[in-house]
Amino acid sequence: MFHKLTPPPPDAILHVMQMFRDDPRSDKIDLGVGVYRDATGLTPVMRAVKAAEAHLVATQDSKGYVAMAGDTAYHAAMADLVLGGVVDTDRIAAAATTGGTGAVRQAMELIHTADPAAQVWISQPSWPNHPALAQSTDVPWRPYRYYDVQSGGIDRTGMMADLENARPGDVVLLHGCCHNPTGADFTESDWADMAAFLDKRGLIPFVDIAYQGFGDGVDADAAGLRHLAARLPRLIIAASAAKNFGLYRDRAGLYMVICPPEERDTTQAMMAWLNRSSTGFPPDHGARVVTTILNDPAMKAQWLDELGEMRARVNSLRAALATALRRQTGSDRFGFLGAQKGMFSILGGTDAQIARLRDDFGLYLVGGGRMNIAGLNEPAIDRVATAIAAVLAD
Ligand code: LMR
Repeated sequence: MFHKLTPPPPDAILHVMQMFRDDPRSDKIDLGVGVYRDATGLTPVMRAVKAAEAHLVATQDSKGYVAMAGDTAYHAAMADLVLGGVVDTDRIAAAATTGGTGAVRQAMELIHTADPAAQVWISQPSWPNHPALAQSTDVPWRPYRYYDVQSGGIDRTGMMADLENARPGDVVLLHGCCHNPTGADFTESDWADMAAFLDKRGLIPFVDIAYQGFGDGVDADAAGLRHLAARLPRLIIAASAAKNFGLYRDRAGLYMVICPPEERDTTQAMMAWLNRSSTGFPPDHGARVVTTILNDPAMKAQWLDELGEMRARVNSLRAALATALRRQTGSDRFGFLGAQKGMFSILGGTDAQIARLRDDFGLYLVGGGRMNIAGLNEPAIDRVATAIAAVLAD
């Protein structure tokens, strides 16, 4: 049997992670996988998380199974964080998942189960795992243009021209904030235009929000998604607590379906059943940490402070790199870095140029030139700018 296997395709992000680990140079810089790092290069455990974990150690009296869709208190806390109360609870079906990746995967399973003919439209570019997850769940997917390399902004004309080809009942995958990999986010009016378009064409939005709080703040980052939730009859949401709670390895994710109340119970039952037939009971520790923090005013205030510090650090690294590149290149060619949101930006570049940044300068970027800004540190900014100017500036 196993001799019939062929090697799986390399994952664009994990491949970079492995190459970085294998590189013996001490001055190498990991700008690949999307994890936050502090000034010392550490991905810290947040203080609010430590406090919640200490509380759990002291009070938790069982590790018995919870429920197939996870803990309803977690659903409620996350629904409140993401949706801010804009929809009635009788319209929300939810299930805890194995991280944000599990949320996207389970949502794809649900789409496939509900309507195998529905196509999912995915931005070009997007997180490489989006098309991979569609493919592995047999969901047909189509790309839509998204990024305008020249302006460092959204290619609105291309996007709408492509989405014109969507059929009623198709699903449009959008990034709630901090678009991965481009950092180019919708404005308020883009969200309003998109909501009107989706409504008119009978399309269902699927919002992946993995970086809430890394752009402009937890509420500001969810404003577009909330607009869709309030305005449209149906919406799918995949949310992750990996980045904003720093719970990467604990795999705390959740997906929600907003639908008319009469569709809610069957949808909820199917979401629980889909968990059963994939991972079984979802992981609980990270989810319980999140619930503990969000339901305790002091812990929540502390978490919001720490998240604000992370956001401020990413934004100041963005600004510093944009300034250093302006100095190095004598142009505003990389000015978009300062204006974009979240951990990622796309610098462009051929495979050979990305390899040169890696081999000659020890800089690890994902193919296509995706850079994790949160992997930078202040002392390295000039060195990074010099390398980028030398390899990519023409
Ligand atoms: C990323 O985009 O680098 C992160 O979301 C990590 C991952 O799972 O790909």
